[in-house]
Amino acid sequence: MTAATYQYVDLPDASVVTTRALLTARENITDTVAARAMMCIHGGAGFGKTLAVNICLRGLEPHEDVRKITFRARPTARAVRYELFTALDLAGEPPRHPSEFDRLLKTALAERPRTFLVDEAQWLNGEAFEYFRYLWDEPATQLAVIFVGGEGCHTVLRREPMLSSRIFIWQRFTRLTPGEVLEAIPLFHPIWADADPDDITFADSHAAHGNFRAWAQLTAHTRTALARTGRPRVDQELLRWAFSRLA
Ligand SMILES: Nc1ncnc2c1ncn2[C@@H]1O[C@H](COP(=O)(O)OP(=O)(O)OP(=O)(O)O)[C@@H](O)[C@H]1O
Ligand SMILES: [Mg+2]
Repeated sequence: MTAATYQYVDLPDASVVTTRALLTARENITDTVAARAMMCIHGGAGFGKTLAVNICLRGLEPHEDVRKITFRARPTARAVRYELFTALDLAGEPPRHPSEFDRLLKTALAERPRTFLVDEAQWLNGEAFEYFRYLWDEPATQLAVIFVGGEGCHTVLRREPMLSSRIFIWQRFTRLTPGEVLEAIPLFHPIWADADPDDITFADSHAAHGNFRAWAQLTAHTRTALARTGRPRVDQELLRWAFSRLA
């Protein structure tokens, strides 16, 4: 499967690797959606959360109506209402009054089961989280919610007992272990497929440190180095040059 649309850097020929975390996410998301529950995926930047969740949800479509909401700044409850209005493709103008707005959203959410993917959820404050809980608690709505966010997401959610007590599954993404790196990276990109495992370990311990985004960047620079030098295969000299761009 090509990962083009999810790649952080433009990286031709990269593939999605079915890591242990991705497999666990698939199981967790499937169970959360089946239970019309809420879950939280959290962990450090670049560990592969967004990519995993998008791949897993794509596997549930078209049977499941999935709506994606990504926050880029700290939203108020009002801003959350507007984001939901947009994500649900509701017709007409957004209502002016909060109570009218709430009614509209609840009516729309009662139409059929839906799944919200709320990415960058570390931006949500208590009030914003509380608004999702309010909609989810409404008996007529059949909502599954997947919150995805950086380390802060877990901390903020844990501070909201009303919501955190309703979280069905928590999943923490971590760095790839050195063993996982040796399995995953040769499948990630053709330049690593025939690389010496010692060179992959060298790159991981000096530069990428089990972080998938760092691996994507390192791969992009190493690809450039291969093209410029005309060498057929990765070696430590090329890698050192690539590291110098990441430092
Ligand atoms: N399973 C995977 N297979 C292939 N590439 C991956 C995988 N997971 C992550 N990547 C690569 O790593 C990059 C970063 O992953 P992603 O955006 O999912 O991280 P994140 O955990 O959501 O980070 P952030 O917290 O900063 O949003 C992706 O754009 C992709 O290039
Ligand atoms: Mg992300």
